[in-house]
Amino acid sequence: MIKNGPFLALDTSYQKLSVNELIEAVGKRLPKNFDEYRQQLCRGEYRNLSEERPVTHVLSRSVHAVAKQSNRKTRFVEAVQKLRSGRWLGSTGKTITDVVNIGVGGSDLGPQMGAFALREFANDAALHDLQVHFVSSMDGGQLYAVLPIVDPETTLFIVSSKSFSTVDTFANVDTVRKWIEPALTQEQWLKKHVIGVSANAQAMTNYGIPPAQQFTFGEGVGGRFSLWSALGLSIALTTGIRPFERMLEGAKALDEHFLEMPLEDNLPVLLALYGVYNREQLGINNLAILPYDGRLRMLPNYLQQLDMESNGKQSTADNKAIDYPTGPIIWGGFGPNGQHAFFQHLHQGYDEFTADFVAVLKREAPGFEKAVQDGLAEQQRLAVANCLAHRRLMWEGSENKTSPRDHYPGGHPSNLLIMDELTPESFGALIGAYEHKVFTQGIIWNLNSFDQPGVEKGKKIAMDVLSVLDGESDESFDESTDAIIQRMK
Ligand code: F6P
Repeated sequence: MIKNGPFLALDTSYQKLSVNELIEAVGKRLPKNFDEYRQQLCRGEYRNLSEERPVTHVLSRSVHAVAKQSNRKTRFVEAVQKLRSGRWLGSTGKTITDVVNIGVGGSDLGPQMGAFALREFANDAALHDLQVHFVSSMDGGQLYAVLPIVDPETTLFIVSSKSFSTVDTFANVDTVRKWIEPALTQEQWLKKHVIGVSANAQAMTNYGIPPAQQFTFGEGVGGRFSLWSALGLSIALTTGIRPFERMLEGAKALDEHFLEMPLEDNLPVLLALYGVYNREQLGINNLAILPYDGRLRMLPNYLQQLDMESNGKQSTADNKAIDYPTGPIIWGGFGPNGQHAFFQHLHQGYDEFTADFVAVLKREAPGFEKAVQDGLAEQQRLAVANCLAHRRLMWEGSENKTSPRDHYPGGHPSNLLIMDELTPESFGALIGAYEHKVFTQGIIWNLNSFDQPGVEKGKKIAMDVLSVLDGESDESFDESTDAIIQRMK
């Protein structure tokens, strides 16, 4: 059955329950005050209890729209226009041609996914081709690949970090500060070649970033929910301001849908309830995200953080131990390539899984000659045909009693998220739908979906290990860890 939402539709025909059966069986898991909770979320009043602050990412979608209504140019808009038009000059007077976003987790995944998905919507006639690169990993492997292709005099770095203290990010920035010499002094670099985006203005000031190059967002905007805020700067630098605003508008349309539609027509609620049913009643512990459009190929990585960092928990929002399953393992990959890699296991392997397929039904490519446009349109049809075929085989199966090699068990439940076209609006709506799905499941499982204590604990242990490696401590851990530390020393 296909349910329509703003810029997005959902086909749940390949789930074990019909929508009505689902509402009957799982709808009762929603608490009586679910309505109040979703209103609080959209008003920026829902509480993140453990971190003692409100949850405000939904509000952050409005900031730029407000600036537009009052016809005021924000600094954010000005910076985007200056960089995209080639008017932002580096300290030696040369035009900035490359931007490198340095950030990790939410400070990397959302911006990178959005920039990659929406780059073709750039329509503000940028005067030159601004290249936007992304560097996240603490090991320097990505930085290693970017530095040789950029020039210190024409490169601007965006230090993206909500806390402005993440070790991974500053490990990369520290290396950059060595690389810029001797082309630039540290002062020259800070003056024209760095922008900070953070919830912590004081930390940016302490670091030496001039106030005019600081962009802030609210503490209540969680890292994994931050692509709508100033943290989305690298999306706007890739597309220009208008497509970025259109992305926010798509997500806002989805917010209204989430608030107003009855449960049986509410896309995020249906995604959430099917997820709960599949997890609890069918006992399936994983969800594969399978986008069938190359522009969405980062969606699985992004949703991994959004869902697993939010709902991969065993304690309730009021800190009681949980003895029931919560958020599933999210994995997946770009569908057309997955067909030639892991789909064999999905069709005939032993394990249970659920999947969300994402299909974009048509694509226009006005920048190309007619023959190429036709070719690309045909390729889109080819991708959709493959998406429909594989999802059908995973559900329907194909029986062969005499030849096990030709037997396909099927029975794997999946959703199909449908976009008539990939536009900034439909992209924003898709991400908004997943955000609200995660929120709804968090309510059902009584979680705080907005903290990540497991990750914080891991960070702390890493610092303890590093002190031993650096010879500053002689703490002992376990046989394996101690042996590897010895080997490194
Ligand atoms: O991985 C933990 C985490 O805190 C994420 O929640 C966050 O997106 C990421 O680290 C980066 O944090 P920051 O933006 O503060 O550098």
